[in-house]
Amino acid sequence: MSLKEKIDATKLPKHIAIIMDGNGRWAKGKGKLRIFGHHNGVGTVKTITESCAKLGIKHLTLYAFSTENWSRPAIEVRALMELLVDTMRKELPTLMKNDIRLSFIGNHADLPVKCQKQLHATMEATAANNRMDLVLALSYSAKWDLVQAVKNIAGKVKEGLLEPSEITDKIIDKELSTHQWPHPELLIRTSGEKRISNFLLWEIAYSELYFCDKLWPDFTEEDLFQAILDYQQRERRFGKTSEQISSTA
Ligand code: FPP
Repeated sequence: MSLKEKIDATKLPKHIAIIMDGNGRWAKGKGKLRIFGHHNGVGTVKTITESCAKLGIKHLTLYAFSTENWSRPAIEVRALMELLVDTMRKELPTLMKNDIRLSFIGNHADLPVKCQKQLHATMEATAANNRMDLVLALSYSAKWDLVQAVKNIAGKVKEGLLEPSEITDKIIDKELSTHQWPHPELLIRTSGEKRISNFLLWEIAYSELYFCDKLWPDFTEEDLFQAILDYQQRERRFGKTSEQISSTA
């Protein structure tokens, strides 16, 4: 039985989030510049995105560029932005063919104008697709998102639209840039690092975490299937006891 056949289609995570890590080390290991790793990482983005759509995953969020990544050498930042623009342009037919809608989370104003325009053009062109949402986190950090959510809530309180006593986790959910998607059930990080790196801190409160030693350009469809199988073997208790979970199953 192949790994894919072992996956229980009735227990798929609705939302998978991925920290795509290890492009730089992958390139270095081959004696190449870091950007060579990012270029090869695009191939993995394509494979994993198409694979998730075909499996029936409804939402896939990829951490493509963090707020902190702006402090990388200017040459790498510029090359990454160009790569993103290029990939969005070239891969539009793939997104259309697979009925995938492109969305974005992050600080839009930080992005180069060319990147903003391409992002908007691709989001507009794919807006009616509905097999899967591909959410790119670009110039994103969870703390940035939480700060903008807190500012919006404080503004509503100041205007008398909301009482402090009415603030609940649902209200905070609504103000986050991820509000239209369910929280990810599964978070994958490649490259062997076991950190969250300021990604979806609020939304992963109850996510299952899966760390894979492979560097992102080496991550394959089989590795994705393995991560999903691992997820399907876990008991998600949400603070309850094992007995409570099995009595409601
Ligand atoms: C982390 O590896 C990866 C990034 C910061 C960029 C991810 C970008 C891509 C995979 C290419 C473009 C993406 C899309 C969605 C088209 P790293 O550079 O931190 O690697 P290292 O930890 O080995 O240095």
